[in-house]
Amino acid sequence: MDTLDRIEIALQTVKKIAFKQEITYLGMGREGVVFTDFFKVYKIFDGWETMSEFDNWQEMFGMDFNSIKNSIIDRIRMLCENHSKTPFSWLPNKMEMICFSGIYFLRYEYVYSTPYTGGFSSNIVQMIKDLCGLQMMYGGFKPDSFRMFSNQLKLVDIGYDLRPFLKKAICHNLQRAFLMMYWADHPNLRHLQRASKNDSSLPELSGFYKFLEQFGDII
Ligand SMILES: Nc1ncnc2c1ncn2[C@@H]1O[C@H](COP(=O)(O)OP(=O)(O)OP(=O)(O)O)[C@@H](O)[C@H]1O
Ligand SMILES: [Mg+2]
Repeated sequence: MDTLDRIEIALQTVKKIAFKQEITYLGMGREGVVFTDFFKVYKIFDGWETMSEFDNWQEMFGMDFNSIKNSIIDRIRMLCENHSKTPFSWLPNKMEMICFSGIYFLRYEYVYSTPYTGGFSSNIVQMIKDLCGLQMMYGGFKPDSFRMFSNQLKLVDIGYDLRPFLKKAICHNLQRAFLMMYWADHPNLRHLQRASKNDSSLPELSGFYKFLEQFGDII
């Protein structure tokens, strides 16, 4: 399905669930299309069925597609529930995972936001620790996954990147977070993040061990 088809189909759903009539497209990725009516943000999950990542997951975890999908939905719901009880500063307000006619979507309060351009280490550290407390880790450390809501860092790319906590993967995961914060404008950040897995002597990782000290209880 091409980009315009995905936007058009997702828009039909948003028109049925939005609070207000004026609907604006905010963006899309592989797993969802995002809109707002300037009251709420709606992320329609339309991409899971076609994501090749799930083939690896099926192999890695020995789970079929439906089990993987249900485990993602469970983790998003668990995050939303915990957030509603004790709000996490790094998540948008009033976040809910909803199913409408078999279509899953995430809904949260709309706030004007600007791109994340790196930094905000203490917020990222807090996010990693909070997720760890829920036995989760975040697999999508890239600047586009975050936005600044009036000077407050918020994670917006919520979905399949919410992974089960895996001790053997946490160190590389923290390297990815570190590189995202300090090398957000690197022309090939993705490559750098991949390379860091097998080369902890990368000059861009200078300062990483100091960063790691903050996670003594996790790693
Ligand atoms: N609250 C928001 N405000 C403004 N723009 C947003 C917001 N949420 C998402 N976007 C835009 O929509 C894009 C896609 O959102 P998101 O990252 O949630 O989709 P995705 O399908 O999960 O992406 P990926 O394939 O990278 O995981 C973002 O990169 C951003 O440009
Ligand atoms: Mg995503």
